[in-house]
Amino acid sequence: MSKGYHVAIVGATGAVGVELLHVLERRNFPVSKLTLLASARSTGKKLSFAGSHVDVRELDAAAFDGVDFAFFSAGATRSREYAPIAVKAGAVVVDNSSAFRMHGDVPLVVPEVNAAAMMGHKGIIANPNCSAAILVVTLQPIQAAAGIRRVIVSTYQAASGAGAKAMAELERQAREVLDGKPVTKEVLPHQIAFNVFNHNSAVAENGYNEEENKMVEETRKIMGLPSLQIMPTCVRVPVFRAHSESVVVETERKLTEQEAREIFSKAPGVKLVDDRAGNHFPMPLEASGDLDVHVGRIRQDMSCENGLAFFVSGDQLLKGAAWNAVQIAEHLIRK
Ligand code: A2P
Repeated sequence: MSKGYHVAIVGATGAVGVELLHVLERRNFPVSKLTLLASARSTGKKLSFAGSHVDVRELDAAAFDGVDFAFFSAGATRSREYAPIAVKAGAVVVDNSSAFRMHGDVPLVVPEVNAAAMMGHKGIIANPNCSAAILVVTLQPIQAAAGIRRVIVSTYQAASGAGAKAMAELERQAREVLDGKPVTKEVLPHQIAFNVFNHNSAVAENGYNEEENKMVEETRKIMGLPSLQIMPTCVRVPVFRAHSESVVVETERKLTEQEAREIFSKAPGVKLVDDRAGNHFPMPLEASGDLDVHVGRIRQDMSCENGLAFFVSGDQLLKGAAWNAVQIAEHLIRK
């Protein structure tokens, strides 16, 4: 190991924070010192990293002294308050919240798509919304090969996207239903066990929920296509982790199924799962734990001359969050 970095994780006890620790370990990221930060509720907790137990401390303004990389995943309010403090202290912030994603001077990065954008950063690099991150990995190779006119995307989003407490809620509610007990709701607005509902973000004036609006804005920014036409529908499904997306793209140049299959089989960050004979296509259970986004069910859109349909499953906590963030840091230390 040539050089080690002092890494801080803000929100270390959360669903994404814990995955950040795992990915840093899995990737053998050169960590010389680790600072784990969360709310006062977590003071006294320890998390294991590379064979040792690291204390979790309360987030405060002094926590970033000497930090090289600060991964933020404790919500936009904490990011707005503490990310500028971390930058002032000399850290590069990779922010998983929505706080800075659409700021003109903050790069919004998915390395397979726009790694170059991070080079002009001013201390903060934004990690995209999970559904957008998973989507653009699959859109970019299609855009490069045939040009995209329009995208219709419907998501099947796991409980993990709403945090560790929502995952626990899915488990608790499933037990309650099976035990014939009344279902209790603490985190999500509707029963998630054995149900499907509109994404739990607020519905904006245009009738789209915030997740759908984020998918549109962020996909356009990451791909550098400010007028890309996108029609999203985002829903929650009773899955623990890994989001799925049904995607239909209309391309400038017609792509055959075979061409699309070849494009996806060579695309970075993509794993082709497309076995018609075995009826085996992307599934959230199989995508969970995988750094790659699974793509399959590749079909010609029978309703549109240049239309191509496919199905995607990607680990929301990994490519949709922790892995993308660590990938950004890996690019920075390699540059
Ligand atoms: P804590 O576990 O102490 O509440 P998730 O997205 O899974 O719900 O995780 C949210 C993360 O953000 C957790 O690590 C949580 O810490 C952290 N967090 C929430 N509120 C604060 C806060 N006020 N200050 C620091 N960390 C916070």
